[in-house]
Amino acid sequence: MQRMITTDLRIFLAKSNIDLNLRRLISYIAITSKYISSKIHEANRKFAGTTNFSGEEQLELDKAADEIFIQRMKHCPYVKEMASEEQDETINVILPEQGEEAVYSISVDPLDGSSLVDVNLAVGTIVGIHYGQFLGRTSMVAAMYILYGPLTTLVLTTGQGTHEFVLNPEGEFILGEENIKMKEQGKIYAPGGLKEKWTKEHAQYIGELEKEKYKLRYSGGLVPDFNQILLKKGGIFTYPALIDAPNGKLRLLFELQPMAFIIEQAGGFAINGKADILDIIPNSLHQRCPVYFGSQYEIELAKKCLNEKEESINNKEKLREEELNNVETKKEIYEVMIEEN
Ligand code: AHG
Ligand code: MN
Ligand code: MN
Repeated sequence: MQRMITTDLRIFLAKSNIDLNLRRLISYIAITSKYISSKIHEANRKFAGTTNFSGEEQLELDKAADEIFIQRMKHCPYVKEMASEEQDETINVILPEQGEEAVYSISVDPLDGSSLVDVNLAVGTIVGIHYGQFLGRTSMVAAMYILYGPLTTLVLTTGQGTHEFVLNPEGEFILGEENIKMKEQGKIYAPGGLKEKWTKEHAQYIGELEKEKYKLRYSGGLVPDFNQILLKKGGIFTYPALIDAPNGKLRLLFELQPMAFIIEQAGGFAINGKADILDIIPNSLHQRCPVYFGSQYEIELAKKCLNEKEESINNKEKLREEELNNVETKKEIYEVMIEEN
């Protein structure tokens, strides 16, 4: 019988040429996700947000996950600063005895999709790791998400491809799929946001996908919905600009930029309609941003549909400018002719 050779996260990281402390930090976060997972699996989670029999308040799961993260990061010597979706401001997590090793800043959505917990749908944790400040593409060195579904999986990039690990019953994250690669086009779409609040351009885009017989795949949880697009190797996830919320719903730092790094490393794309999500430098911690995550075909189509009006205005302006220039040139030639005569 053939013996299966398995690689776990630690071995995988040890074989890569990334900074040792970054490797340690990634393993530290992977272990943290096991604490969050066990919290999610507590049978009494339905009572979260209420007071228990002994009069103690039971934290809601997103707050409990945040607490777990903060405590773990306070004991992790490689992180100096942590920004969490659950906190107004960044938290300084350097202990007095720590110092030089603490060079990384992390952005965390400790529990994404918390409204799906009571109906037992999949939820996740999203983490971005930056060297120094949060400056988008320039500072991001790694990104990962953990999906708590029927299996717990961890999807990671350190800028050298995107890889999936699966948590086994022994508590090890085993390499499931190395170097995930998106195809040029997919077959599924996950359109977020209330339909009646979509812009005309966005509605037209979704209409085009429907004409092309894309199948609807939307659970309402960013992590599982994104994971489906990534592991099916194509399609589109959007949470667009809405008429009453031009910046959409999802947060640039905690949700979008880590996912953008992950999908780009798999050969996919992440845009706000025009620009790459990773090229936007956040000007506030909780900044929201419209998003389109997908494979090449769907992203090009989105750019075309969303910017058509603007492009036609630009083209009209260009034509007018050319016409004016022509008039000016004709005038100049005429004046020269008069002078010469
Ligand atoms: P969170 O639970 O961290 O606040 O985020 C929920 C997000 C995300 O998971 C999902 O894509 C989006 O909210 C869904 O929003 P709608 O319910 O408006 O579709
Ligand atoms: Mn979230
Ligand atoms: Mn959250």
